Amino acid sequence: MKIFLDTANVQSIREAAAIGLVDGVTTNPTLVSREEGKFEDIIKEICEIVDGPVSAEVVSLEAGGMIEEAKKLAAIHDNVVIKIPMTKEGMKAIAGLKKIGIRTNCTLVFSANQALICAKSGASFVSPFIGRLDDAGQVGMDLVRQVLEIYENYGFDTEVIVASVRHPLHVIEAAIEGAHICTIPAAVFEKMFRHPLTDAGMKSFLADWEKVKNR
Ligand code: E4P
Repeated sequence: MKIFLDTANVQSIREAAAIGLVDGVTTNPTLVSREEGKFEDIIKEICEIVDGPVSAEVVSLEAGGMIEEAKKLAAIHDNVVIKIPMTKEGMKAIAGLKKIGIRTNCTLVFSANQALICAKSGASFVSPFIGRLDDAGQVGMDLVRQVLEIYENYGFDTEVIVASVRHPLHVIEAAIEGAHICTIPAAVFEKMFRHPLTDAGMKSFLADWEKVKNR
């Protein structure tokens, strides 16, 4: 499973990329609003750090506007993937962008029918939002399972990005289901490294080494 970081924070991306585990990045207007600087500059900097897809979202509501925004964003760097919302206009934009070779990530996907429509429109990626479904009392991971099965049935090449991840268990479940990608907030990524028994084990090994090292 590929690991994307779900943040627009350049510092977090730089630190995680230095470990060698970041295959891509997803941003959205909310994540960008938490950072300083111009949207285009942030996206460019992220693309220079991460050698993989970097999602940047459009805000127009009509297909024509989305396509114009997408062309400008795609011109920033080859890594840019255009995030398009799951609307009828969005699907027109996805189909139009596919024709001119611009990759898209269909966002705000909450049902299997929406995911089917994204794939048929030609989206490169689809982002089911599992945390928001969990928050609404629906099991988000059930949607991931359905989407993967539907895409497998028909050989769609749209990659499934498990999005709206809230905790490390979501990442484990995404990997068990065989999702192509999981996009992970920096705080959750950090938690994936940790286990109290690892810390305790390190502490006792180092303490015992103190007794041995000067023999
Ligand atoms: C990623 O593509 C999404 O924009 C993001 O995961 C949404 O997460 P949230 O539900 O925590 O805002």
